[in-house]
Amino acid sequence: MQTIRIPHTDLDVSRLALGCMGLGGGWEANTALTADHERQAREFLDAAEEIGANFFDHANIYGRGRAEEVFGRVLREKPSLRDRIVIQSKCGIRWADDPPGTPQRFDFSGDHILESVDAILRRLGTDRLEILLLHRPDVLWQGEEIAEAFEKLRSSGRVRYFGVSNQNRFQMEYLQSFLSEPLVANQMEMSLLHHGFAEVGISFNQASPRYPDGWEGVMEYCRLNGVLPQAWSPLARGVLTGNLEGEPDNVRQAAGLVREYSRTHETTPEAILLAWLLKHPADIQPILGTSRPDRLRACVKALSVSLSREEWYSLFAAARGESMP
Ligand SMILES: NC(=O)c1ccc[n+]([C@@H]2O[C@H](COP(=O)([O-])OP(=O)(O)OC[C@H]3O[C@@H](n4cnc5c(N)ncnc54)[C@H](OP(=O)(O)O)[C@@H]3O)[C@@H](O)[C@H]2O)c1
Repeated sequence: MQTIRIPHTDLDVSRLALGCMGLGGGWEANTALTADHERQAREFLDAAEEIGANFFDHANIYGRGRAEEVFGRVLREKPSLRDRIVIQSKCGIRWADDPPGTPQRFDFSGDHILESVDAILRRLGTDRLEILLLHRPDVLWQGEEIAEAFEKLRSSGRVRYFGVSNQNRFQMEYLQSFLSEPLVANQMEMSLLHHGFAEVGISFNQASPRYPDGWEGVMEYCRLNGVLPQAWSPLARGVLTGNLEGEPDNVRQAAGLVREYSRTHETTPEAILLAWLLKHPADIQPILGTSRPDRLRACVKALSVSLSREEWYSLFAAARGESMP
């Protein structure tokens, strides 16, 4: 597997990262880990080694903590693995009833960040995270408080680098202005279907611009400042490569083209979807959401596909349901 050096760090990570949201049995509260969850996590980590992926994306909310816990159990079985992998997790989203009687909310308070990291490390059974991301912007955030929490985590060795998720350009700029070290990543939804990051680039000065609010300058900020853009849901959750029943025309057409290119490039549809993201010059890192070994093998083929400019724009036009302006 090809690797990339994350800017501003000494981390060499696989070009494709593996998302851990599918581990630990979903979102349900008050359920326990089972032997099946452990088997799934074991097979996932074995498949990761097989395809050469060393970068794992967690969040404290995945499986309500069970994703990190089951990952930690497998890590304890294979202690030598820890130094060969890079672990990223996130905090800042709080469920309702945490503690009882509270609403679902965002929380970037210093105390919550520190407590969350300690709980993450406990569940994973490790002494450090390579990267911590703030999950979704907290309207009530205070830059000074976040900077202080980050400094405590960095100086105690609990977290090496920091980044964000789902933040626009101004939010990144605001937070960065308080920090002594650069933000290293911004994780956002990006795929052939969720293509605001591309749409915004062709919308300026158009009679009827179609760009979704918030994307202005995000990719340019990342490129100028060495922030790694990470794509969540890069396979569009299987919509383009699975069952198309009930999907609108643009999705069917895009899926048809994905299939056609997978034949001409002698590869898999998943590879074409990921190659579309990989061609972007900001070096987008897809975070794959599947934990199935067969689908991971289908995805890794993306690294040997090079789409032409014409194929890239044809896929984009099909997905947006309109040719370029
Ligand atoms: N920062 C954020 O706010 C945020 C939000 C969401 C996710 N994430 C991260 O991003 C990662 C990826 O997100 P994601 O899981 O939404 O991304 P994804 O890779 O686009 O979708 C994966 C899901 O689609 C299913 N799928 C893929 N191909 C399929 C097909 N041909 N037919 C049927 N189902 C198919 C997979 O099922 P199988 O498991 O059966 O293959 C899996 O449930 C997560 O694990 C997490 O780490 C971050």
